[in-house]
Amino acid sequence: MQDFLRSLPKVELHLHIEGSLEPELMFELAERNGIELPYLSVDEAKAAYQFKDLQGFLNLYYQGMSVLCLEQDFYDLAMDYFKRASREGVVHIDMHFDPQAHLQRGVSLDVVMSGLLRAKQEAEQSLDLSVGMIMAFLRDRPAEEALQVLEQAAPYWDKLDAIGLDSAERDHPPSKFVALFERAKELGLARVAHAGEEGPASYIIEALDLLDVCRIDHGIRCLESDDVVERLYQQQTVLTVCPLSNVSLKVVDELASHPLPALLDKGLNVTISSDDPAYFGGGLLDNHIACAQAFGWDEEAFQALNRNAMKEAFTSEPRRQELL
Ligand code: HPA
Ligand code: ZN
Repeated sequence: MQDFLRSLPKVELHLHIEGSLEPELMFELAERNGIELPYLSVDEAKAAYQFKDLQGFLNLYYQGMSVLCLEQDFYDLAMDYFKRASREGVVHIDMHFDPQAHLQRGVSLDVVMSGLLRAKQEAEQSLDLSVGMIMAFLRDRPAEEALQVLEQAAPYWDKLDAIGLDSAERDHPPSKFVALFERAKELGLARVAHAGEEGPASYIIEALDLLDVCRIDHGIRCLESDDVVERLYQQQTVLTVCPLSNVSLKVVDELASHPLPALLDKGLNVTISSDDPAYFGGGLLDNHIACAQAFGWDEEAFQALNRNAMKEAFTSEPRRQELL
């Protein structure tokens, strides 16, 4: 099964590129940029990756990305992940990135965008990999700031596929970002949002009704409401479910009790992703292998999940046809 899963062409719809920063590269960049880390070694960093909840993770996630300063750093971050993912049989990645987290530290949008776009272009030429760009906004920061950043990104609008909404979910409902998502729609950008990870099922409905999203990132708490499940079923909205992330952030107790099988039983449009592979114990292949072990799914089940993802990936029609 592991060999099959490795060679299966896989599609990643939910990946935060800053969450792909492995401790080894984090140390290298810290040294390059003269930044002090709160860890003495790679092992010490890895040992610190034990999270109580989403906020506990976010604290280390924002701290980790403080080593990203120059265009080359963003290029190295993305290229490092693209190569690793490609070796694991990943053929497409829709990549979230968090401009506000960098702007706040005095790193310009041009630095972030040119590094990431250079890596994307090179990966698309040299690896069998396509990359979608999702500019994500931090829901625990002011809505006005998000709108300003989207306007500031005007030179890059044509390079973006979508906007997303991430960071601390509780008490930051989708309704806070109606104006941002309306503007993105006006610009012809697709829209996705994290909802129903730590936040309630009602945030999923808000994201669909008020933000007009085409995907729900995570969404697993939909099972707390029959109405929400019915809505997701009727619309066949894609859910980008991240099993190892959910275990790491204690959204579920263990993989064996993860609601993935229940979501599939309800006929929902489920896909599997890795979220923040450097922090949650592995990339897309590891997530597949863990699911095979926990749920005993057969080869067809994994093919179907990746077909779901390929249909929705932010890529050109010829590339989609090539992948399907
Ligand atoms: N949830 C919300 N925000 C995030 C995550 C996540 O899992 N990873 C990076 N930002
Ligand atoms: Zn996420």
